[in-house]
Amino acid sequence: MAAENTFAFRGTYYHTPTYGRLDVLRDVVLVVQEGKIVRIANGHEETEVQEEFGLAEVRQLKAGQYFMPGFIDTHVHAPQYQFTGTGTDVPLMEWLRKYTFPAECSFQDLEAARHRYSLLVKRFLANGTTTAMYYGSLHLQPNLVLVDSIERLGQRAVVGKVNMDRHSPDDYIEDTADGLRDAEEFVTYTLGKKCSRIQPCITPRFIPTCTPELMKGLAEIAQKYGCHIQSHISECCGEVNCVREMHPEYASDAAVFEEMGLLTNRTVMAHGTLLSDDDIRHLARRGTAVSHCPLSNFFLGDAFFKVNHALSLGLKVGLGTDVAGGISPSMLSAQRMAVVNSRCIRAHKLAVSGGTTVTPEMEKDVITFKEALWLATVGGAQALDLADVVGTFEVGKDFDALLVDTNLSGTSGPFDVFEGEDDDQRFEKFINLGDDRNLIEVYVQGVCVKRGDEFLLDGSNVSVKATEDDSDRIMSAPTPVEPEAAYLDLAHRADSSDEAASVDVGAAAEQSEPPTKRSRF
Ligand code: GUN
Ligand code: FE
Repeated sequence: MAAENTFAFRGTYYHTPTYGRLDVLRDVVLVVQEGKIVRIANGHEETEVQEEFGLAEVRQLKAGQYFMPGFIDTHVHAPQYQFTGTGTDVPLMEWLRKYTFPAECSFQDLEAARHRYSLLVKRFLANGTTTAMYYGSLHLQPNLVLVDSIERLGQRAVVGKVNMDRHSPDDYIEDTADGLRDAEEFVTYTLGKKCSRIQPCITPRFIPTCTPELMKGLAEIAQKYGCHIQSHISECCGEVNCVREMHPEYASDAAVFEEMGLLTNRTVMAHGTLLSDDDIRHLARRGTAVSHCPLSNFFLGDAFFKVNHALSLGLKVGLGTDVAGGISPSMLSAQRMAVVNSRCIRAHKLAVSGGTTVTPEMEKDVITFKEALWLATVGGAQALDLADVVGTFEVGKDFDALLVDTNLSGTSGPFDVFEGEDDDQRFEKFINLGDDRNLIEVYVQGVCVKRGDEFLLDGSNVSVKATEDDSDRIMSAPTPVEPEAAYLDLAHRADSSDEAASVDVGAAAEQSEPPTKRSRF
């Protein structure tokens, strides 16, 4: 007798258990029971496996079709999805004020939030993101809508309510006590769902918008419930200089987070482009991970994050799109950007050398699609404390997987396959050239959540292609407007000509170097 919820596929599976190596399981039968991989057998054992599990059939993948692990995006701002692909003209601190805070604030319209979050989760699933680490917005209620949308559509996620109690717009800020209360309510709401796919996350936005009181209180909540924590660290010059002015007694963002109790083995810090080696070593000692967001770093960061260097210092590293700072929701795009980023570091070193000799030292930051794929799967799983659950195909892990079809040629697919190309070449083409059209089935915890254009768990079954009904709602969703109220200009610099700036960090801005710096490590 077949146990319920048992199925098997025979075919080729790609994954990256080891950094820098692409492993292929050729012609295997993989059995999934109650969402977990329970058996990986050789293809020729199909009949025995079928009998053992009482399976009516073992589904055969076609030539050119492969399974791979679902992508894990370790840094997404859910309410920023609506303006992804726009607003690329200004640095981070101005970008927050001009585009981000107004957009996030508009999610108080819960009807609009429900619609937008449904589109968001579908878009990410369609692009193969089976697990996402999401920032929500400031207000409690829309975050509950986000959690409900994720639950309904079947994605795996770590989700946080954003906290910020200073240096924020008048209509997008919270009182410290209210923020702590709402953060705890968000955690208990999410845990109360008892949905093993969804975990709550404590989310102080970043140091400039959080008082020490808020950060310490949030750390206590995280400890009380064993929660994940996420924030932004050492992202760009504007942010780092702002933190130095606000907290002159600390040498770095990492030192501030350390003092607040926010560096744990369940913390993911985004960006880290300006982390020192000491900072990286410290995060590594704490078991804290960095979400590498290469595309966003090109737009909003001011420096390169060096993946190989960080890994060599023992840091856990995952990959993130950072929608909407990153202008693509696709983790395939993030992987390609990670490779390009690494090659920019090499080019930069050569340019600085002034010569025409590429040294081994210049080469050591370069990564290939194999390392990038590891970051997008195993690295992300480690960052989210899910390394025993997802990231590779192993007995005992959950089946979070993408069925890739490389047979879509001509105008029906993003690339062509030519005579004589083997499976490895076709798979590499998919990673470098493919898109959501190649992802014909998406599985989370053994459940097919998307097949073709259909989201199978969605009652209304609205596809990512907008229906008439969708377009009406898109039109009726309120367009965020820029607030008129004056508040701290986060983009302020000592040399800024913008007078509307500095409120209470103004005095600190006068000092070019803080008097004493505590590393606190
Ligand atoms: N720092 C604080 N908030 C944000 C945000 O929304 N995106 C990015 N990239 N950095 C931030
Ligand atoms: Fe971000």
